[in-house]
Amino acid sequence: MKLDFVRSNHIDIKDRRKLLHLVRDSFEDPIHGLNLHAFTSQTYEPGRENLLLIRDNGKPIACALTIKRSVRTTVGKASFLSAGSVAVAKASRGRGLGKRLVRGLVELAQEQHCDGIYLQGISSFYTKLGFHACLSRSETSLELASIHRAPEVYSRPLDDSDLPSVAALYEHQAQNNILTALRTTDDWDWLVNHATPSYFFHKPRVVIESGGVVGYFCTDPDDPSRIREFVSYETEVALTSCLSAIANQPEIEHTQPLRVMTPRNSQLTALLHRRLSGEYIEHVRQDGGQLMYLLDPERSLNDVLHHLFAEVFALQTQPGGQIHVQNSQGRPILKIAIPQIAAFVYGYRSVVWWFDQAYEEIYRRVMQTAVPFIYQGDNL
Ligand SMILES: CC(C)(COP(=O)(O)OP(=O)(O)OC[C@H]1O[C@@H](n2cnc3c(N)ncnc32)[C@H](O)[C@@H]1OP(=O)(O)O)[C@@H](O)C(=O)NCCC(=O)NCCS
Repeated sequence: MKLDFVRSNHIDIKDRRKLLHLVRDSFEDPIHGLNLHAFTSQTYEPGRENLLLIRDNGKPIACALTIKRSVRTTVGKASFLSAGSVAVAKASRGRGLGKRLVRGLVELAQEQHCDGIYLQGISSFYTKLGFHACLSRSETSLELASIHRAPEVYSRPLDDSDLPSVAALYEHQAQNNILTALRTTDDWDWLVNHATPSYFFHKPRVVIESGGVVGYFCTDPDDPSRIREFVSYETEVALTSCLSAIANQPEIEHTQPLRVMTPRNSQLTALLHRRLSGEYIEHVRQDGGQLMYLLDPERSLNDVLHHLFAEVFALQTQPGGQIHVQNSQGRPILKIAIPQIAAFVYGYRSVVWWFDQAYEEIYRRVMQTAVPFIYQGDNL
């Protein structure tokens, strides 16, 4: 059995059908089949190997999909492979193929000069393979009655002519915030022309006010009251207009709160605290959220420390898999386990470390402002 890296538009129709069957059979949620369609369209040219396949006598029995993403960080830019629909055929499970796929993801990330991999999935499976839970799945839940309805604001399906405004809006937020994947023209082309039936960019709608686009949103395919991606200008007026347009949609279930996938400290949660009724919910227990793997954790750690403190540090790997960091005077400033480094570098909570107090204060101050503008867990 061999693991191959292939371009998704290069696989033939027979293999595409088998893959579809494999993915549909592996996941209860039919959306994975639609996600696979979005990836394997023959008119989508990924420009790189993006599909991992293990074949048995020519028949695909395991697969994983990847997208390459560039993310702004506290120290500049990092590139990641974001992976999804990691699946092994039921009859072939328990024989190490899942592990082989994940090793393949790491090889592909190395080949494509990435700093790491992020994905969402069964945390007990991935943490055994060196991933660390970084970002919890979270949302802002709003009582519909507390949302002001502005009749002059409305939403309609996004069409090609909206793309420049939507991409400009996203770019504006990407420049003013960090830790959300940047999007190139090719990414937008894929999202708008291939991914709208899938989970990645489901049925996008633009919000129109005074003839212009002030925001856009995509819903969860299984639940129109759950907004997966919500981007608007950051002013209270724009945010309120967009919420009004979302709440006015006929598909919204009026007996339920409106749930918007939001990262911690988002603009929407700030508005909730000032003006709306509802709550911010972090699903820490139910779901590990985003899992991350860094290819060279020591280098990433060194980069962020150097950037934050403008000093040269010495890093030593201890036998138990801990990194001890000393400053240039030889004073210990940080002790951290290697799998926790990803969470440290990207400012996520849930990190257990020993940190010198003076350095930790500076670190926390900087990381508090490191907030993605949309929830970034779901393979975007
Ligand atoms: C999860 C999945 C990919 C694992 O594939 P597999 O070939 O059975 O896994 P492996 O045989 O390589 O197992 C590797 C390790 O993971 C563990 N593992 C396997 N499936 C697991 C699961 N569902 N939950 C937790 N741990 C799991 C194994 O016990 C093994 O541990 P060990 O190294 O200590 O023995 C497979 O069960 C699958 O396709 N599931 C359905 C789709 C899915 O949920 N994908 C993951 C989310 S994207």
